[in-house]
Amino acid sequence: MLLANKVAIISGGATGMGRAIALKFAEEGCHVAVADINVPQANETIRGVVERGREGLALECDIASSEAVQAVVDQVMTKFGRINILVNSAGTTAGVAGGSSVAAISEGEWDRIVAINLKGAFLFTRAVVPQMKKQRDGRIINISSLGAVHPPTVSPHYHAAKAGLLGMTYDTARELGPFNIRINAIMPGPIRTPFYDKLIAAMGEAEKEAFFECLGKEAPLQRMGRPEDIAGAALFLASDLSAYVTAAVIPVSGGLPLEAPAAN
Ligand SMILES: NC(=O)c1ccc[n+]([C@@H]2O[C@H](COP(=O)([O-])OP(=O)(O)OC[C@H]3O[C@@H](n4cnc5c(N)ncnc54)[C@H](O)[C@@H]3O)[C@@H](O)[C@H]2O)c1
Repeated sequence: MLLANKVAIISGGATGMGRAIALKFAEEGCHVAVADINVPQANETIRGVVERGREGLALECDIASSEAVQAVVDQVMTKFGRINILVNSAGTTAGVAGGSSVAAISEGEWDRIVAINLKGAFLFTRAVVPQMKKQRDGRIINISSLGAVHPPTVSPHYHAAKAGLLGMTYDTARELGPFNIRINAIMPGPIRTPFYDKLIAAMGEAEKEAFFECLGKEAPLQRMGRPEDIAGAALFLASDLSAYVTAAVIPVSGGLPLEAPAAN
């Protein structure tokens, strides 16, 4: 197994790619703590972790709160005594179909989106680094977005936050490399998860399917991504398969931003 006896904290692990990462890690021998605002679904993820023979913790946490983040780290240390892996997967869009033009974004909305998509990853990184330094072992995976560099819609606060995560990845990887803490990012393309729920809430079932079909066809691989596609890349970055990889940004995007060939 690639992660035998490791301990991971996964923010946003209640649903979507965070959950798929939790289950994949558990299959590879890793104990998992999920930190999320959605406690019922976090419990569901941990049920899957336990079914795979590992230990788990579902912890309520708003990642924009430094006290809540520190409380998660303290509880994980009390239970497991170590933290080998941090996945910063929690995130959200503003939930406005078609995007939010810069002139329409209130200061409060800007602060909220940046707090959840960028500040939360900083707070978690800051909270785990002292322990990872002591261990001389740590792997941090930041879930950014292809939209950080190729925005598919207008969403400047969200895309700025996701681009900020790339900057933080490079900077922290440089600082913490000497402590054998590796920090990398994944840039997902369109992945079918509850992330889209708010955006497509008004659509009927057939319209939703057509929306995803159409979105998938834009990629050279001709389909939407699945949460498991992200989990595979995360497993690579969390394990010793990537022992000499830090400050890397991996697009998992079906080939986007390259366009699909015209005739298909
Ligand atoms: N799905 C996509 O197409 C896509 C594309 C690019 C990037 N992303 C990014 O991938 C990451 C995972 O998204 P997903 O697609 O799995 O969506 P998702 O909605 O299924 O998962 C996001 C998780 O974050 C949690 N969360 C939201 N706000 C939180 C907060 N304040 N504190 C703690 N937890 C909070 C949610 O409860 C949820 O469990 C996000 O950072 C998202 O921005 C998604």
